[in-house]
Amino acid sequence: MSEDAVIWHDLECGTYAADLPLWRELAFAHAAGPILEVGAGTGRVALDLATRGQRVIALERDEALAHELKRRARDLPIDVLCADACDFALEQRVSLCIVPMQTVQLLDDRGAFFRCARAALVPGGVLALALLGEGVQPFSVELEADVLERGGVRYTSTPTALRQTTATVVIERRRRAEGEAVEYASLDVVTLQQLDAATVLAETVPSGFALHGVSSIPPTTEHVGSAVLLLSAVAP
Ligand SMILES: C[S@@+](CC[C@H](N)C(=O)[O-])C[C@H]1O[C@@H](n2cnc3c(N)ncnc32)[C@H](O)[C@@H]1O
Repeated sequence: MSEDAVIWHDLECGTYAADLPLWRELAFAHAAGPILEVGAGTGRVALDLATRGQRVIALERDEALAHELKRRARDLPIDVLCADACDFALEQRVSLCIVPMQTVQLLDDRGAFFRCARAALVPGGVLALALLGEGVQPFSVELEADVLERGGVRYTSTPTALRQTTATVVIERRRRAEGEAVEYASLDVVTLQQLDAATVLAETVPSGFALHGVSSIPPTTEHVGSAVLLLSAVAP
């Protein structure tokens, strides 16, 4: 099943590219030392940056994804850290921590994450958080499936619904794997916490952050846009 975790991750996250120019620009401005990516998955962003010479510490909780990222990194300057974003410590502090693809909205204990991130950053270091942008529309119809063929198996992931409450955004997908020796279907449900810039600011100030700036990632035909909140680590 762990191989399948990698395949579903690649299928559902791997082709998104609209955010890469922003992460490259931020990494370039902090190129002197390693940067930290939180929730790195199989390395969509970390591999892109490391290919351009950036040292990356890639933190990922899921063992199968972390293992695959390590395998894909080969000789690239990536250190993979398999750990929980809400409970980690780095051996060396960094000047940039990026959190792509609304991963911050998946975390169970954001306060703990902000404390870990602050401890991981040098004073003046930057924490960059991608938040779900405006224009998220609820739906409950089947959208076009993402498809990937691997090892004689056809994997399809079909978005079937997006529901919003005041506290959450819930995204449902039907996953289907079909091959000679494999056949299964399952429902994947991802719950994002609703989170806006003002709430993040109120939550991060006590951990030692101040507003540094706001950037954005434009929507694509398949993905909503993101607001990217840039916070700077203030000296204690
Ligand atoms: C939406 S994916 C983003 C993957 C990658 N950053 C990208 O942009 O393609 C979110 C990732 O965060 C990881 N993740 C979720 N909760 C986590 C946690 N508490 N600690 C570390 N990683 C976590 C998931 O396993 C998943 O790989």
